[in-house]
Amino acid sequence: MANKNLDPFSGGRTFVQTGKAELPELDKWQQIGEDEAAMAADMIRRNELSGGTPEVREFEREWREWIGTQFCITTINGTSALYSAFFGLGVGPGDEVICPVNTWICTIAPALLLGAKPVFCDIDPDTLMLDPADVEAKITERTACIVPVHLWGNLCDMDALKAIGAKHAIPLIEDCSHAHGAKYKGVMCGAIGDVGCWSLQGSKAVSAGEGGVLTTDNVDALERACLVGQVNRIQGIDLVRPKYEEHQPLGLGMKFRAHPLGIGIARVQFKKLNELNARRAAYIEAVEAGLADIPGLRPVSVYDGAERGGFYGFPAIHDPDEMGMPTAEFIDKAKQAGLRIGGTPYPNLHDLPLFAKGFDIFTRNRGPLCPGQGYTGYKPGDFPNAELAASRTVFLPRLSDPVPEAAGIVLDTLRSAAQA
Ligand SMILES: Cc1ncc(COP(=O)(O)O)c(C=O)c1O
Repeated sequence: MANKNLDPFSGGRTFVQTGKAELPELDKWQQIGEDEAAMAADMIRRNELSGGTPEVREFEREWREWIGTQFCITTINGTSALYSAFFGLGVGPGDEVICPVNTWICTIAPALLLGAKPVFCDIDPDTLMLDPADVEAKITERTACIVPVHLWGNLCDMDALKAIGAKHAIPLIEDCSHAHGAKYKGVMCGAIGDVGCWSLQGSKAVSAGEGGVLTTDNVDALERACLVGQVNRIQGIDLVRPKYEEHQPLGLGMKFRAHPLGIGIARVQFKKLNELNARRAAYIEAVEAGLADIPGLRPVSVYDGAERGGFYGFPAIHDPDEMGMPTAEFIDKAKQAGLRIGGTPYPNLHDLPLFAKGFDIFTRNRGPLCPGQGYTGYKPGDFPNAELAASRTVFLPRLSDPVPEAAGIVLDTLRSAAQA
């Protein structure tokens, strides 16, 4: 038998990343139920297991009608939706892509792998969203794209970001992976910028287990997104203009097509999204209103005209001076009292060795993070607002189907922890 220590296929840790009720005694939510199981079983019986099956095409139609864009494609995950979006807009070697420093690495990784250099921006300390002033300050003649990320279900200042994009003729890709169903001034997030991308990963508000979605009105971006990941998709089904016709249906031969079973499950989940968002919003708003009585803990701000959705997380801002207690201590006390709360789950990207020091991605001294090619990296202090926020943001329990007294119990527990 292979030595267990050397054999990567034995004794490995498994992990399941499908959404679960946060505090089962306060939250009755079950992300996956009989409807999803029935859909999967039906699809298996119909052998709808590969390709652009009827469920996949229906989901894409429903999604684009809901978002209000002309086009929608599904992908294997949110990361490949973003890859397709960057490729769709022609992001490539030598380009720079702007995104917030406090996002999940998958927002920017696809641009990196296309050869573009990530340029991080600081955040608005009250909303935790991308700071438009820092975005404008970081634009150069190489900036190919700006990626507003609607983190935790909150929305970026899209009027300001759209104005900056328009002024400099730079397209926007909205990363809506945390914000399914969020709106800004009546427009669905994902339809505000040039391309919208969502993750349908297992813990998202709409889950395919693993899956992603891309929407756009930009014909060229759509066709290029199809070229790069939807092998065999286009012919006879979608739009093909003469520009790319000779390359279809094989495109570039890469394959990011979604698994139909996942999309079937997501189609069932999608029907429940409005209800889920209403329940999450009511609970979060009740807790946020109650924070007024807890000195040193305040809700994040929401820009005028923004209507949150998805609610991937429930951040609040802690002030250790006002509470008279360090943030870590407050979190510990609330945890000991039974709440599932924690600090910022994502590292600020400039702290990762990958971006702080750089990395020879393509080997032999090539690629956008190559110190040998002039990549200068980042250091602590480069993003003061994001760094302070990382040390002071507290993630409160995000309940999805709370029992009626849940918000009160959460608030009482937070209040006691703050006074302990
Ligand atoms: C902000 C953000 N962008 C992109 C992604 C990537 O999505 P996926 O995990 O489906 O590839 C995630 C995943 O959690 C995310 O949180």
